[in-house]
Amino acid sequence: MINLVVLISGSGSNLQAIMDAIACGHLDARVAAVISNKTSAYGLTRAQSAGIPTAVLQHRDYDSREAFDAQLQQLIDGFSPDCVVLAGFMRILSKGFVAHYQGRLLNIHPSLLPLHKGLDTHARALEAGDRQHGCSVHFVTDELDGGPVIAQGIVDVQPEDTPETLAERVHMAEHRLYPLVLSWLSQNKLCLNQGQIIFQGKALAEPQTLYFST
Ligand code: GRF
Repeated sequence: MINLVVLISGSGSNLQAIMDAIACGHLDARVAAVISNKTSAYGLTRAQSAGIPTAVLQHRDYDSREAFDAQLQQLIDGFSPDCVVLAGFMRILSKGFVAHYQGRLLNIHPSLLPLHKGLDTHARALEAGDRQHGCSVHFVTDELDGGPVIAQGIVDVQPEDTPETLAERVHMAEHRLYPLVLSWLSQNKLCLNQGQIIFQGKALAEPQTLYFST
């Protein structure tokens, strides 16, 4: 059983998928707390409905990124997490924060990294004419969306796709991928050692891939 603290800024559908995976026994974990930087984040309601403690820390109450992150770190550490799960947390994190959670800070990004770092990934995948698109779960490092990628969920791009239809399919892939990666952590199959992903006892040369056909 691993202890998770989940950080969100919005809808929290990935949080929901993680809570559902725990509830149906696919993931041996406990969500100790959900923390948001936005009071309006619907994920807070999802957590409260499941009886999970929530907290809101608003960045505008802090003078600097470092001051906000220091407070966030203190709040998170009060829940003794084995893993801090970024699930749509729309903040760039300071170096000190990232270093503190090295090897136990995960993020999900809606593209096949290293393609399309940053925002508007679905529109950019369409503009680029990509035949495939998807999502990536990675360890977080100093480089934005640049940490070692553990696993990717791949979907085919259809000729009639819009950014919205593509986003919907990628989201479905996210909801399968994130709980799966967390289950590897909970089963001690996955860790980060000096910047290298170790999966099932061996250095991982390429991300694990899951293909989601339409
Ligand atoms: C997801 O698309 C995730 O890849 C990105 O932010 C979005 C969060 O969605 N990092 P939700 O709040 O989990 O619904």
